[in-house]
Amino acid sequence: MSEKKEIIRIENLRREFIVGGEKVKALRGVSFTIREGEFVTIMGTSGSGKSTLLNLLGCLDTPTSGEYLLDGMSVQSMSKNRRAMTRNRKIGFVFQNYNLLPKTTAIENVELPLLYNPEVNAAERRKRAIDALNAVGLGERLNHKSNQMSGGQQQRVAIARALVNDPVIILADEATGNLDTRTSFSILMLFQELHAKGRTIIFVTHNPELAEYSSRNIVLRDGKIISDTINESPASAREAFENLPKDND
Ligand SMILES: Nc1ncnc2c1ncn2[C@@H]1O[C@H](COP(=O)(O)OP(=O)(O)O)[C@@H](O)[C@H]1O
Ligand SMILES: [Mg+2]
Repeated sequence: MSEKKEIIRIENLRREFIVGGEKVKALRGVSFTIREGEFVTIMGTSGSGKSTLLNLLGCLDTPTSGEYLLDGMSVQSMSKNRRAMTRNRKIGFVFQNYNLLPKTTAIENVELPLLYNPEVNAAERRKRAIDALNAVGLGERLNHKSNQMSGGQQQRVAIARALVNDPVIILADEATGNLDTRTSFSILMLFQELHAKGRTIIFVTHNPELAEYSSRNIVLRDGKIISDTINESPASAREAFENLPKDND
């Protein structure tokens, strides 16, 4: 097997916060490389540093020290503007609370990241948004507003929005955290489908059961990696979904 392209490389990443005059070490030297096509779950109990790490990987925050290469580019050496542009073009985010614009249609929510892209005109923007919504199974709900959709549908819109710029990586923070078991598995199925199509995904969760569905699992504890394992044969989320009881009583 030939070595795939490196999407993310971090070396000895540290992040400290000063709270009430005391130093909180959220990340204490974290290193790994993620290659194209990996589906990585990052686990750990609450407070282990998962969100801090994801915010650094997503260029939403900067480390106290350490190196970060995204798609071969040094994130530290970028200007603030350049970093914001890189974030918009190279990263798709999916959050626990969906972060959709309220009272706004699915299609408008998905078009949003493209508004900052001068290379894409209005017609192309619309086409790409429709394609992305079709890809997440929402082709019939293009003009539904966020408040008219279920949690699972809203998360699909958020995933379509994350895909629309064709990012090099998708970063998800507790993406199934607010969803019931059945809906969680349907979203997990979607992530597995995206992975099968070659997408690179980092999926942060506190739920250890989800490790068997990804191709690699990294566990954090107290700001350090305590294990990093490859899963040669991930379980099928579709199978798990189909074996769930149909009603929850
Ligand atoms: N902005 C912040 N200011 C101060 N402390 C923070 C901040 N963000 C995270 N922390 C602290 O860093 C540690 C790791 O937090 P976090 O990354 O949110 O963990 P997780 O997502 O695994 O629950 C915790 O002790 C948390 O209180
Ligand atoms: Mg968190």
